[in-house]
Amino acid sequence: MQLPAHITNLPPYIPIEPFEVLSARLEREPDEICKLDANENPYGMSPRARAALANLTYGHIYPDPESRALRTALAEFTGTPADNLLAGAGADELIDLIFRVALSPGDIILNCPPTFGMYSFDAALNNVKVIDIPRKKDFSLDLDGIINAVEKYSPKLIFISSPNNPDGSLLPQPDLQKLLALSLLIVLDEAYIEFAAPESLGKTHSQISDVPNRDNLIVLRTFSKLAGLAGLRVGYGAFPSWLMPTLWKSKQPYNVNVAASTAALASLEDRPYLRKTVATLVAERERLMAALQEITYLHPYPSSANFILCRVTGLDAAQLKADLAQKHGILIRYFDKSGLKDHIRISVGKPEQTDLLLKALSSYSVSNQ
Ligand SMILES: Cc1ncc(COP(=O)(O)O)c(C=O)c1O
Repeated sequence: MQLPAHITNLPPYIPIEPFEVLSARLEREPDEICKLDANENPYGMSPRARAALANLTYGHIYPDPESRALRTALAEFTGTPADNLLAGAGADELIDLIFRVALSPGDIILNCPPTFGMYSFDAALNNVKVIDIPRKKDFSLDLDGIINAVEKYSPKLIFISSPNNPDGSLLPQPDLQKLLALSLLIVLDEAYIEFAAPESLGKTHSQISDVPNRDNLIVLRTFSKLAGLAGLRVGYGAFPSWLMPTLWKSKQPYNVNVAASTAALASLEDRPYLRKTVATLVAERERLMAALQEITYLHPYPSSANFILCRVTGLDAAQLKADLAQKHGILIRYFDKSGLKDHIRISVGKPEQTDLLLKALSSYSVSNQ
């Protein structure tokens, strides 16, 4: 049987090693691994979420296809009407859903690399063409490039991550206003927004409550980073009213499982825990930033998220990543793609993880390479 060409042309699958396999390969117990490579929340879920999962009663019943209880809680949390909210199995599921409902094969979207890889991955999967408008050297958007590309290619949609993964920069308000004035759908991915404004849990910077006032703005958020629920897969989005009926009829009916929505709801009920862990991570980010700035071979970029991107000079960045894993059990992310050559990204961990990392980093110097 002949598979569609856009599917056979996908890059080969590279399996991500689960924690246990990794721990066996590195010959370290899982708690001896310092995992700073995937922007997870090292504090994990709220004790209330843990207790709610332990007491889960209706695991044998299919979940509510409309995630009503969760959307009602999210409406209060985000200041956005529940009618404009949709929950998903992570923001990832919603990115794929947007492709499937809003785009046809052959349509064009804009992407602004370096950025989160799922936008281009899902584009390839859905046979949608991507025009890249690379970010500038400081990772800000090339607005003129975007405006020209809108005129030239009539793309249907643009993905913007704010704060952007992997550098952590926020999209400035005036830039967003310019984008909103263009005739295309803006998907603003705010997976890390809570780390930009810890006190308000993101509210002071988030655009989510503005979604119902616009026809061309989608905002995506997640519980993975804020609430330590990455393993349970639960995210949500705010969508313009005209798109909601299509989303409802297109999504998988049971996309958010009972455990995920129970944990998400309990997390929202424990706002003090969320506020405290986010504030702790932001304080730790600042400490890590100050320490990284002192390391001669690293050049960290300012970040509003729970990770810090660094350019590496005078050392082989790939070797540094491999060495940290093998010799110290510390996992970081290394990038080898265009615009990010010789860059590493370090997720913000607990203070003891920062200490371990800094000790390991201090054992390298440019001169002894
Ligand atoms: C920018 C961005 N958006 C979305 C996600 C995925 O979120 P979720 O875990 O909710 O699928 C990530 C995960 O790393 C991310 O970096």
